[in-house]
Amino acid sequence: MTATGATTATTTKPVLGVRDLSVTFGAQAKGGRGGRPVHAVDGLCYELAPGEVLAVVGESGCGKSVSAMAVMGLLPSTAQLSGSVTLGGRELVGAGEKELRRVRGKDIAMIFQEPMTSLNPVLTVGRQVGEVLRRHQGLNRREARERAAELLTLVGIPAPDRRLDEYPHQLSGGMRQRVMIALAVACDPAVLIADEPTTALDVTVQAGILEVLKNLRNRLGTSIVLITHDLGVVADIADRVLVMYAGRAVEHAPVHELFAAPRHPYTRGLLSAVLRPGPAPDNADRPRLTEIPGLVPSLDTQPDACTFAPRCARADEQCTASRPLLGDTDPDDAATDATTGVITGTPAGVITSDTTGAPTGTHAPHQAACWHPHRDALVRTHQETGQ
Ligand SMILES: Nc1ncnc2c1ncn2[C@@H]1O[C@H](COP(=O)(O)OP(=O)(O)OP(=O)(O)O)[C@@H](O)[C@H]1O
Ligand code: SF4
Ligand SMILES: [Mg+2]
Repeated sequence: MTATGATTATTTKPVLGVRDLSVTFGAQAKGGRGGRPVHAVDGLCYELAPGEVLAVVGESGCGKSVSAMAVMGLLPSTAQLSGSVTLGGRELVGAGEKELRRVRGKDIAMIFQEPMTSLNPVLTVGRQVGEVLRRHQGLNRREARERAAELLTLVGIPAPDRRLDEYPHQLSGGMRQRVMIALAVACDPAVLIADEPTTALDVTVQAGILEVLKNLRNRLGTSIVLITHDLGVVADIADRVLVMYAGRAVEHAPVHELFAAPRHPYTRGLLSAVLRPGPAPDNADRPRLTEIPGLVPSLDTQPDACTFAPRCARADEQCTASRPLLGDTDPDDAATDATTGVITGTPAGVITSDTTGAPTGTHAPHQAACWHPHRDALVRTHQETGQ
């Protein structure tokens, strides 16, 4: 962004807007652990532009799946939800089940990590995809079958006519995941949420699934929220990245900025192993999040402090005395509130585009929820150094 970024950028209407989203399980009820509430998601904000891919990363238990289920309106009744989720300008929080059912599949869809649990084992692939098309698009049986075959082709399934008559157990894991994607995009939803869509698959199959997702974005303009532990996947497909820690967003940045100069100590810990200079490791696996010493804190409190402080080498009194909010930490963009000392800037995830309306990920602000963010690069990658 230029110093006068606002003059060269126009605001693109987001397809999905998540504002101050919080999810608590078992508050004031027997449900929570030991009777205490679990604050699974705490004040999450992001926006998604048309055709954009936002990767959501973070260690296990950080609230990635719960926040996705909250957006889809699929949380169990033990969950208490607050905040706002707007899809194409329509508020979904508080909407009735009937309206949510209409929206799901048609305007927003989700693919899950384990396709076997989401596909019906006793119905053929053709019947399952066809039913979605008949219910949401009013197609007759013949039209639905033809469209289902087109969808299988779109997601890279060879011999689609034969596959339509097969049952899920007759397909490989990769093929089942492709069918899940075909089901999810059957009604051309504006937003697709993919929760670890490649984790259970081997490396070659993973690459194929990623190609399918890229293809959907490029050909249909689908916006994608991609939840993953896999930093190779992030680098490959994402425009922007949201890093979550203990239910909170701690860093948000265009993908190249996050890899080149992560600002939050947690993100730097996650990336340090894969950004190490020197020759690439021999193993062909994609880099995955590394272990950081210490544990993700229990989610039964909402401290007015940085939740990463117990694991952070830079922690000081300020970190344990007050909660840093996600803010613009680029010295050129940021302003500091004279009274509170809080760094302020563009609100989390606000999307800008160039005047052509092109996708906006690379123009998004770089934000970190940290009192003492790093502003230097971590280390240069072996590709950059040529070592
Ligand atoms: N139904 C539930 N009742 C109570 N707590 C829950 C429920 N579902 C999730 N949680 C808790 O919410 C927190 C966030 O869970 P979530 O599944 O979103 O993590 P995640 O970031 O998706 O992790 P992973 O990478 O392992 O999938 C966890 O502490 C989890 O135990
Ligand atoms: S706010 Fe403090 S404890 Fe938290 S990540 Fe930043 S430096 Fe570390
Ligand atoms: Mg999960």
